[in-house]
Amino acid sequence: MDRFHGERYESKIIKMIRHVFVGAVFMLLINFEGTSCLNPPQGVKLFGSYLQWKKPPDEDSVLYSLQYKRSFKSEDEWYNVTSHNKTELRFKITPEFYGAEFRVRAEKGNNTSEWKYSTKVQCVNTNACVPVMKLSVKPGKVYVTMDHMDGSLKYEHGEHIQFNVSFWKVDNGGYSKVESIITNSKKQILELESGQNYCFQVQYLFYDKPYGNISNQSCAIIPETLEMVKSRDLLFIISTTLLVTAMCGVFIFLLFKHHKKVKPLLQPLRLEIPDHYLEFIRSGEFPLQACPSPSCQSLQSCDMILVIENSSVKQKGQEEEQVV
Ligand SMILES: *[C@@H]1O[C@H](CO)[C@@H](O)[C@H](O)[C@H]1NC(C)=O
Ligand SMILES: *[C@@H]1O[C@H](CO)[C@@H](O)[C@H](O)[C@H]1NC(C)=O
Ligand SMILES: *[C@@H]1O[C@H](CO)[C@@H](O)[C@H](O)[C@H]1NC(C)=O
Ligand SMILES: *[C@@H]1O[C@H](CO)[C@@H](O)[C@H](O)[C@H]1NC(C)=O
Ligand SMILES: *[C@@H]1O[C@H](CO)[C@@H](O)[C@H](O)[C@H]1NC(C)=O
Repeated sequence: MDRFHGERYESKIIKMIRHVFVGAVFMLLINFEGTSCLNPPQGVKLFGSYLQWKKPPDEDSVLYSLQYKRSFKSEDEWYNVTSHNKTELRFKITPEFYGAEFRVRAEKGNNTSEWKYSTKVQCVNTNACVPVMKLSVKPGKVYVTMDHMDGSLKYEHGEHIQFNVSFWKVDNGGYSKVESIITNSKKQILELESGQNYCFQVQYLFYDKPYGNISNQSCAIIPETLEMVKSRDLLFIISTTLLVTAMCGVFIFLLFKHHKKVKPLLQPLRLEIPDHYLEFIRSGEFPLQACPSPSCQSLQSCDMILVIENSSVKQKGQEEEQVV
């Protein structure tokens, strides 16, 4: 049973393999026929901002179809370049193709050639590259660091590629004059006004002419130096000291000016209060505080009046309440 089943299984597998093999050969033949009839375009390459190729040998009127892939990742799809299914031998690369890969093939009737692939589109092929800029601030300084999106420009043009770093001060919504520095070096140190907000941008120069796009603006506030912080603190201390001194001065001046008015207020207390009154004060009640003016010649009488007044007022109040 088992053996019989096993043999049948084996023969099934052999049949399947044969099928697959025949199929593969068939497909290969078809493929061979397809590709053998038409030679592919020759010398597919990026040159400046063009993708260009040559005619396949011994072919005159063929069409070329062109496809591109956004990146070199294998899972990416190939897209038709719709504008290009013609006999032309080149294609202008626009900025949106940065980083893409192309492939081109010849077509004639139902025949198609195999694909021929280009290299990756780099800065040197599109006029839209922007240097990568980074800012880092230190007291009184800013370090502007630039980098290339890829090495192609530098590789092809060397010293003729420069950075044009421009910067300006932003002040309460206003802008100062734009200054710019042209440099070959990737690192630039600028000494700037502390505590101020500066904005920066950078663009490539190619043979002293602007090349590619201008970078986005990047802004930073320049921190103050230690000396500035110190001197500001010192200024603060000095001004507070001055203010306190001035206030003391004013106070002393006022005291001195009203000396005569203040004096009788103080003096009679000390000189004229009889001992038994002092004891009365110490005992807790303070009628003296209620003394309306220093014009009272005799404290005794003043107090008496006050006491009488208070009690009479009280009585009046009580009477009124009773009336109501
Ligand atoms: C290009 O055009 C030909 C006929 O004009 C067509 O057979 C072919 O499929 C087209 N290719 C693409 C990629 O559109
Ligand atoms: C590209 O064009 C060919 C021929 O016209 C077509 O068969 C294919 O589906 C197209 N591919 C895409 C991704 O549009
Ligand atoms: C550098 O950039 C500034 C600001 O964009 C611009 O005014 C200046 O003309 C540029 N310099 C050169 C040499 O192109
Ligand atoms: C570059 O600038 C052009 C216009 O000057 C603009 O259309 C394009 O979108 C910019 N590209 C990038 C990548 O910023
Ligand atoms: C520049 O700014 C635009 C819009 O804010 C943004 O889409 C783009 O990614 C920025 N470019 C860079 C290089 O940061």
